[in-house]
Amino acid sequence: MNNHSVVTATDLTKTYQRGREEVHALEAVSFTVHRGEFVAVTGPSGAGKTTLLNLIGCMDTPTRGTLHIGGRTAHELSERERTRLRREHLGFVFQHFSLLPTLTVAENVALPALFARRFAGARVDQLLDKVGLAHRRGHLPHELSGGEMQRAAIARALVNDPPLLLADEPTGNLDSATGETIIALFRKLQSEGLSIMVVTHNAALAAAAGRRLELRDGRVVAQVF
Ligand SMILES: Nc1ncnc2c1ncn2[C@@H]1O[C@H](COP(=O)(O)OP(=O)(O)O)[C@@H](O)[C@H]1O
Ligand SMILES: [Mg+2]
Repeated sequence: MNNHSVVTATDLTKTYQRGREEVHALEAVSFTVHRGEFVAVTGPSGAGKTTLLNLIGCMDTPTRGTLHIGGRTAHELSERERTRLRREHLGFVFQHFSLLPTLTVAENVALPALFARRFAGARVDQLLDKVGLAHRRGHLPHELSGGEMQRAAIARALVNDPPLLLADEPTGNLDSATGETIIALFRKLQSEGLSIMVVTHNAALAAAAGRRLELRDGRVVAQVF
C-alpha cells in the first residue's frame, strides 16, 4: 500500500455457508486501485463480482484477508467508523438506480450529505450541472429517462466527494446508446481525478476502463491493461 492507493486488497477471501456446503465466492484476491484509476471487474455470473464490491463497500466482512481503504484497515474499524468510511470514501451506483420515488432529483442527490450532517446546497447544483441534469432538478424520478435516472444516481454518489466510486452493472438497464453517455460521464469523472471500480458485462464500458480485473470462480484469472 502507498499514499496513492485508494483500495488495496490482500488475499481477500469470502466463503459463504449454504446449508452444509461451503461456497468459495472469493479466493485470495489481491489488487490495488490507485487514485484516479478506472478499473472494470468482469467475469461470468457467479464469479464473485458482487461479493467483491460488497466487501470493498464495507457491506460485508471477508472470511480472510485484508482490505485497506483510504489508509484504514477495514476490519479493524468499529461499526461506527466503518459507516463513516463508507460515507466519506465511497460512492455507490447500482443497476436499478435506487432513487427515492417521492423525492425530487435535487433532494435525492442531497440525501447522502444529509446523513453526513453536511449542507449540500451549492454542491448539489454543481453536480447536477456536471451530469447534465440542472434542468431536471425539481423533477421526480419517474419523470426521467433511464439514462437521466442513472446520471442522478451518479451525482448522488458523489455528493460527499468520495475518492472512489463503486458501480455494479451501471449500464445493465440501459440501451447501448444511453450506456455510452454513462461511459462518457465516467471518463470525464476519471479525468477529474475520481477512482472508479465498475462491475460490468458491457464490453464498451470495460474497454473504457484503464484496467480490467477478470474473475472466474472467485479468483482473478487475468488483469488486462
Ligand atoms: N449470501 C450468500 N450466501 C451464499 N452464497 C452466496 C451469497 N452471495 C453470493 N453467494 C454465492 O457466491 C458466488 C459469487 O456470487 P456473486 O458475488 O453474486 O457473483 P457475481 O456477482 O459475479 O454474479 C455464487 O456462487 C453465489 O451463489
Ligand atoms: Mg453480481
